[in-house]
Amino acid sequence: MVAPTTNQDDMHGEVYFPSAETIAQANVPNYLALREEALADPVAYWDKRAKELLDWIEPYDQVLDDSNAPFYKWFTGGKTNLVHNALDRHQNTAVRNKQAMIWVGENGDVRTFSYRQLWQEVNRFANVLKGLGVKKGDTVTIYMGRVPELPMAMLATLKLGAVHSVVYGGFSSTALASRIEDAQSKVLITCDGAWLRGKVIKLKDIADEALSSEAGKVVENVVVYQRTQHEVNWIEGRDHWYHDLSDGVSKVCDTEVMDSEDPQFILYTSGTTGRPKGVLHTCGGYQVYTATTLKYVFDVKPEDVYWCAADPGWITGHSYIVYAPLLLGATNFIYEGAPNFPDPGIWWRLIEEWGINILYTAPTAIRGLMRFGDEHPNASDLSSLRLLGSVGEPINPEAWKWYYNVIGGERCPIMDTWWQTETGGFMITPTPVVPLKPGSGTLPFTGISADVVRPDGTSCDANEDGYLVVKTPWPGMARTVWGDPDRFVDVYWSTFADQGWYFTGDSAKRDEDGYFWIIGRMDDVIKVSGYRLGTAEVEAALGSYPDVAESAVIGVPDELRGNVIHAYCILNQGLEGSDELAAILKKHVRHEVGPIAMPSKITFVDSLPKTRSGKIMRRLLKAEAMGKPLGDTSTLAN
Ligand code: WT7
Repeated sequence: MVAPTTNQDDMHGEVYFPSAETIAQANVPNYLALREEALADPVAYWDKRAKELLDWIEPYDQVLDDSNAPFYKWFTGGKTNLVHNALDRHQNTAVRNKQAMIWVGENGDVRTFSYRQLWQEVNRFANVLKGLGVKKGDTVTIYMGRVPELPMAMLATLKLGAVHSVVYGGFSSTALASRIEDAQSKVLITCDGAWLRGKVIKLKDIADEALSSEAGKVVENVVVYQRTQHEVNWIEGRDHWYHDLSDGVSKVCDTEVMDSEDPQFILYTSGTTGRPKGVLHTCGGYQVYTATTLKYVFDVKPEDVYWCAADPGWITGHSYIVYAPLLLGATNFIYEGAPNFPDPGIWWRLIEEWGINILYTAPTAIRGLMRFGDEHPNASDLSSLRLLGSVGEPINPEAWKWYYNVIGGERCPIMDTWWQTETGGFMITPTPVVPLKPGSGTLPFTGISADVVRPDGTSCDANEDGYLVVKTPWPGMARTVWGDPDRFVDVYWSTFADQGWYFTGDSAKRDEDGYFWIIGRMDDVIKVSGYRLGTAEVEAALGSYPDVAESAVIGVPDELRGNVIHAYCILNQGLEGSDELAAILKKHVRHEVGPIAMPSKITFVDSLPKTRSGKIMRRLLKAEAMGKPLGDTSTLAN
């Protein structure tokens, strides 16, 4: 194993050291020493964080129960509810008068909520759901645009002890339907529509389409929050306007007392094979992990305005828009719109106008904005910014430097946070006191023992590519795949079953200083603009079109989006490919999965490269698409 060093004189490559001022101001100035301490005794370390950051309704008996690995349990015997810590407890302190959420709409609407107001809104929403029969253990599917009622709906669900499954508003009706069915949600919360670049995305229509399938037999009530005010179809008895249901409803609601290991939410994410899997997070450990990571990494101070520009519908939004900031009593900024609408200066104007101190976004957004030139950021005063963040895919050094120099004014450290839906929170990340290297997520977080290993489990040498693994459990880890524990074991715990390590699906290397560099996915997951897609999902969508006999899709590197999708299709006997059909197939995938899954190129072929056992060799398609040597083709059948 490579021993990490952050000793100024010994470090290799291009290193950005934190200023003395940054170190002096940091929430955790002794972070590097603390990492050593936490690694030596992670259980004692997490015990301290759990007590220091959260209020437990009843204390836990045991920090970690590893008797049934890999089904680890944390803080067992403890009684808690995230909403108790995120909202209820703040009502007794000065935090209640502070802004919890500042929301700006795409059309310039502004809505702000103090901690007291947000608590009242969430209570009211919870009472509405209770009125529809939602109770502890039920699942609620949420399919909304980026409006304040989205976090409110999430918090209200948890308040009742129910389990939410948020489906990102950019997903198709087919994707929504399969997620509703898998989670068996009797209640769906949606919007009439969402604003996107001045146009209305008709969410209610998409939801109606989803409910015209088998999913419609599961859902009994649909709650519709009105945002765009266009005409929608209505099924009496099933569909309810939120403004009707909430009219005159009490703003006080008891918080359900939960066990630490009770289910808290499900979030579907793509994997190598088959349908997206419902990753389950539970009540206790998730709170401890997200609150600790946000406090240490983004160094949030009471007076800060913090902006995580992700969508609440992804794990980034769950953990670092909706939950951790409220646990810490921070002020969250949420913007409804896209970064380049009405023009590419909007984000920078918002930062100036609202005095944003921390900005957390994705490389694809940074590259997209960089393209429009420095004049846009230069037209706004960005001096309020103190810290920047990046997530979703590796950030190329060119984009890193633009972000650092032009947006951060050479003064703001960039937190390049590597993590996954399954990890609940940041895993490999700097904090403001850690020396940075552009493109590296630096070191594993306190209490996280990550490594890069060979297939036999031995640690790689410096700069040798290998499998990224996590060797010991952590509180924020996923507990299972909803309804499919075997799949949980198979996907994450079977590659290094003998050692009992978590397999991330990523390849990486560590450099001479022990710094981690993520290379990319080793499986059939493709990251498009930071969004996670499985080849299987896109292939299933192509295959559902009558003319397509078989298909294979690959990710091809793209300057702006990280990767784009290329699809190879074999048509049914006697049919000929054409530009017209390619356009139809692109639209079909867009409709079946969502806009992010749309292939940028479709090639019609007569056959696909396969192994003798019939597995498609996507590696060969990729090598060919990139004009690279094909490598070992000894297993190729045709
Ligand atoms: C995959 C997880 C977790 C929030 C968003 C994505 C890639 C994520 C980084 C980063 C390099 C990254 C990995 C990972 N990834 N962050 N900072 N540097 N790669 O969550 O959709 O579950 O995707 O995203 O490949 O496995 P997700």
